[in-house]
Amino acid sequence: MEKRDSWGSRLGFIMAAAGSAVGLGNIWKFPYTAGSNGGGAFVLIYLIFVVFIGFSIMLTEFAVGRRKNLAAVGAFKSVDKRWTFAGVIGVLSGFLIMGFYPVVGGWALAYVFKTFTGLLSAPDAIGDVFGGFITNAWQPLLWMLAFLLMNVVIVARGVSTGIEQAGKILMPILFGILIIISIKGLTLPGAAAGMEFLFKPDFSAINMSVILAALGQAFFSLSLGMGCMITYGSYLKKSENLVSNAAIVTGMDTGVALLAGIAMFPAMFAFGIEPTAGPGLVFVVVPHLFAEMGGVGVLFAGLFFIALTVAALTSSVSLLEVVVAYLIDERKFTRRNAVLASSGVMALLCVLASLSLGGVGPMLFGTGAFDVFDLLTDKIFLAVGGALLAVFAGWRLNKEELKNEITNNGEVKFGIFGLWYGLVKFVIPVVIAIVAIGGILDGFEAGKGPIMLIGLGIIALFAAISKKL
Ligand code: PFF
Repeated sequence: MEKRDSWGSRLGFIMAAAGSAVGLGNIWKFPYTAGSNGGGAFVLIYLIFVVFIGFSIMLTEFAVGRRKNLAAVGAFKSVDKRWTFAGVIGVLSGFLIMGFYPVVGGWALAYVFKTFTGLLSAPDAIGDVFGGFITNAWQPLLWMLAFLLMNVVIVARGVSTGIEQAGKILMPILFGILIIISIKGLTLPGAAAGMEFLFKPDFSAINMSVILAALGQAFFSLSLGMGCMITYGSYLKKSENLVSNAAIVTGMDTGVALLAGIAMFPAMFAFGIEPTAGPGLVFVVVPHLFAEMGGVGVLFAGLFFIALTVAALTSSVSLLEVVVAYLIDERKFTRRNAVLASSGVMALLCVLASLSLGGVGPMLFGTGAFDVFDLLTDKIFLAVGGALLAVFAGWRLNKEELKNEITNNGEVKFGIFGLWYGLVKFVIPVVIAIVAIGGILDGFEAGKGPIMLIGLGIIALFAAISKKL
């Protein structure tokens, strides 16, 4: 077996974990999901989930990963084979998310080039350019492959070299540009309506679908519920403070999501773009915003898409790493073969996802591959995976052992251990169960119910054959 990798430094781990968390989920998905789920009310529920569920689950993932020194599947399996399925569902989620994530990563990469080759010179066409691009058969596929290839190269070399370096430099750039965009957007006439939409909750907009969307967004954005942070935690040194790491990563991720919202919504309202515009939001709003600034605008927009690509990359490598770590730890692959085999499957899934946006390819209950992968992971697998981890930690692991791991055998103060433990053991599983069931029932109205039920079916099936996995 190859030697287990470990993080180069404290900052290296934080940047890698934050790099995993901060990605397309924050900058691409959060704004359009908030936009189509009513704005402020969604944001409020999302924030509540982040604080009470997200932080607690992140801490649990770090603790379990470091304690067992094994990636997702191994961490469960080493304790009890009946639990292996909980890790395997995480690996499946990794595959499915990587079945559409590189498609969007490819869009970001393509937009670096589009920005520098005249996209901004015809502002009125920006919306059509996006629509035309993603429904085109070949172009997005080539960009997707380019993006996936970057993942392959980085993950093949091991987690701690490439990822740490790229994140350290480009994450601050992304942050800086988002601030510039926000200031620019906020100064446009009519911008205030955007802030109001984003932060003033309209409680009549809340229903179970909105609540499930907020829960899914919290898990997706924080990279939780699929063993990613278990895997990253398994490479973490014993002396690290898990509590502060979890708090910093959660805080950074949420900060970037809110900043992305502030960067998008005021500008959207000023330009008269509908908040329900959907997945094209960033790709239309940002070029629009910089269009009338001339050369400087091109530079800012270009830098934005470079940083977005890198943010996507530091997340997608963590997704790929979950699958690769499983193949290395449990299936005895070499790192190289693990990377090649898994990225090959992911490329095929991405082709299906990308083509589905142009209306080509198989459908499931009237839904194309892109949306099926998104729906299954974001609305079912991640949240249920989080609930399973909570039950596992609360009911299967030993309380003292967890306490020792989290406090580094008493060295680190964690005054609210009892509160955290109560949340993990009782509250989180119950809340997730209620939200998932309510959301699925609501989902039937939008025709998404059957697919979500299939998701639950897959989980039940894996649970039944857990010992054989
Ligand atoms: N958190 C990433 C984002 O917000 O873009 C996506 C993600 C990465 C989800 C890793 C899950 C994961 F395990």
